Order: sequence, then C-alpha cells, then structure tokens
Amino acid sequence: MTARKPTLAIVGATGAVGTVMIDVVSTRDDVWGEIRLVASPRSAGRRLRVRGREVEVLALAPEVFEGVDLAMFDVPDEVSREWAPVAAARGAVVIDKSGAFRMDDQVPLVVPEVNPGHAALRPKGIISVPNCTTLAMIVAVGALHRAFGLRELVVASYQAASGAGQAGIDTLYAQMDKVAGSRTVGQRAGDLRGAVGDFGPFPAPLAMNVVPFAGSLRDGGWSSEELKIRNETRKILGKPRLKITATCVRVPVLTGHSLAVHAEFARDVSRFDAQRVLSDAPGLVLCDDPERDEFPTPADVVGTDPTWVGRVRQSLDDPKAVDFFVCGDNLRKGAALNAAQIAEMLVPEF
Ligand SMILES: NC(=O)c1ccc[n+]([C@@H]2O[C@H](COP(=O)([O-])OP(=O)(O)OC[C@H]3O[C@@H](n4cnc5c(N)ncnc54)[C@H](OP(=O)(O)O)[C@@H]3O)[C@@H](O)[C@H]2O)c1
Repeated sequence: MTARKPTLAIVGATGAVGTVMIDVVSTRDDVWGEIRLVASPRSAGRRLRVRGREVEVLALAPEVFEGVDLAMFDVPDEVSREWAPVAAARGAVVIDKSGAFRMDDQVPLVVPEVNPGHAALRPKGIISVPNCTTLAMIVAVGALHRAFGLRELVVASYQAASGAGQAGIDTLYAQMDKVAGSRTVGQRAGDLRGAVGDFGPFPAPLAMNVVPFAGSLRDGGWSSEELKIRNETRKILGKPRLKITATCVRVPVLTGHSLAVHAEFARDVSRFDAQRVLSDAPGLVLCDDPERDEFPTPADVVGTDPTWVGRVRQSLDDPKAVDFFVCGDNLRKGAALNAAQIAEMLVPEF
C-alpha cells in the first residue's frame, strides 16, 4: 500500500516568491499530493503550471484550506496576519514568509541548516521564515558561530529589487528602459529623479543608483529592514543580547541579496580556519580566490540554491574578527527554498 501524499496549498502563488515556490516544488522531490494555488480574487481563474500540469488559481477563502496538510503563505504581512490563523484552525501547518509572526514567541523562526529543531515547537501551528536579507547571511554566520562563538556582527546589505516583490522587479525594468538610451543622464546631481519616472516601492531612483534605505522608518533613524536583521538573527541563534548593527542598501540588481559582514568571535579565527568551516558547512559554497577573480556576485548566484561566500579575511586590527562577503538568491534560499526545506522536514508528520 502506498502512503497518502500530503496536500499543499501555496497562498500568494502569483507573486514574486509564489512563482519561485511553484518552481521549487516542481523541481524538488515529489513529496506532495494535490497542490492547491491560491491568490487574491484578482487572480482567481488564472491557470499556472505546477509539476508540468495546469492548475487553476483559487481566490483566498476559508474553504480553500479544507483537507490541506501544509499551507505556504507568500502574501503581504496583513494578509498573513488575518489568514494564517484561519488555515491553522482548519488543521494545516502554516509556513509563513511574511513579517507577521517572525518575532512572536509562540512562532518558531526556522532555518534548517541552523536551528531545525525549533520547527517542532509551534503552539499556533505556524512556522515563520526569516526575512530574505537575514537569510542571505545566516547560514554562513550560523556555521561560524557554531565553530567559534559569535560576539558581534556589523553588516551592510546590497539588496536586490525583487526583495520588494513583483512591484520592485517591474519598477527596476521600467526605470532601466527609461535611461538605457541616454549618454547624458546620471552626470548631474538629481537628474535621474526626473529621468526614471515612477520610483515604485523605492524612496529614490534605483536604476544607476544605490539607495541607503529599505523598509520603513523606525525610532532613532533605523529602518525596519535593519531591525529585522538584528532581531531575527538574535532569535534564530538563540542569543537575545547579541550585538548587531546593520545598514541596509538597495542596489540595481534584479535578484540576489549580498552582505558585507564583519563578525567578531570569542576566540582567534584565522582566515584559513574560517574558510575551512565555511567550505564544510551544508548549504554553503566557498568561492574565494580573488587572485583568479573568484568571489560571489549576485549575477553569478541568481537561480541557485546555496549561500555563496567569498572575500574571507582576518581583520587587520582584531585576530578574533573576520570579514567576508555573502550572496544568495533572495527568492530561493531567501524565501521559497527555505520554506520548502522546512516543509520537507515535516512531511513524515502528515
Ligand atoms: N521578495 C522577496 O525577496 C521576499 C523574500 C522573503 C519574504 N518575502 C515576503 O513574502 C511575501 C510575498 O512577497 P512577494 O515579494 O512575493 O510579493 P508580491 O510579488 O507582491 O506578491 C504578493 C502575492 O500575495 C497575493 N495577495 C496580495 N493580497 C492578497 C489578498 N488580499 N488575498 C490573497 N492574496 C493576496 C498576490 O496575489 P495577486 O497576484 O492576486 O494580487 C500575490 O500572489 C511578503 O510577505 C514578503 O515580505 C519576500
């Protein structure tokens, strides 16, 4: 007798993350029975291909969770906040990629390579996936923390447009179209502002620019993205007082978040020791040979699963600190893949 395969719902199937989620479940081990696709009423009736078959998109409603074992939520915070409890009340385990529950004490925040055991304790029936920027660095930081004992992190992010969803993707392409033919724009202060048209979800032009602000403004001049990195890293590593400073910057890259990381540890860490730990850890690829121009760039890692690490250096002023550069696909490990890995860990429970 063959075991029944669990039923999966993908809520937000038409968005930037949902589209990659469909690709991820279509190309990984075929552990799911029925796969139900759900989005807003705007998308109801659209047909999308999952595992080679066309599936009709359903409008979000309580009934879509009937018989669902696991529901992936790839929707804005407010939609998750309202609907994830509805799915959980109908018996589905929810894996939520929004920011709605990440800091809830009753909701584990899980990265399978770092804290897989946290997924078992989920009193609300909800598991959260970290923010895509935290996820771009946490597998590398977690591996180094296990080996050397992390004391402090100082990071700067280089975040892609698709981190702001389909609207971010559409905006960057549209702005690039507007400036592509010009040989003058970008040479005078402020001229990009008039040239690129709509700023979309960004607070300044993104094409031909870098924008030192992502998310919304919080107390003390910090951005919400910077606080997410701090709070989520502390929760995942189980170090509530870890010192963390982040500066989040949006760059004109379509997909692939990068971070420059300065990490201080409890003991001395040579460049070689850090490279050895990073090259042995699951989920990481060490790409670190600058003499041969080998280091990760978002253009080279987009569409791949691992976190890529390079430019590993021991700090010149502190033998207990290392600096390195990480890149990861914000839509794959930064969202859909991390969720798929958690879901696959849970399959034996259904
Ligand atoms: N982009 C990233 O790199 C990334 C990474 C990690 C986590 N996240 C998080 O993942 C979630 C999805 O992000 P995204 O980038 O995929 O956004 P997106 O491209 O804007 O897609 C949003 C999705 O939510 C659906 N939706 C919106 N309002 C809805 C409603 N009232 N009822 C049902 N469905 C609704 C949309 O359906 P329609 O097409 O029908 O409007 C669409 O499928 C967000 O919480 C985001 O913060 C994003």
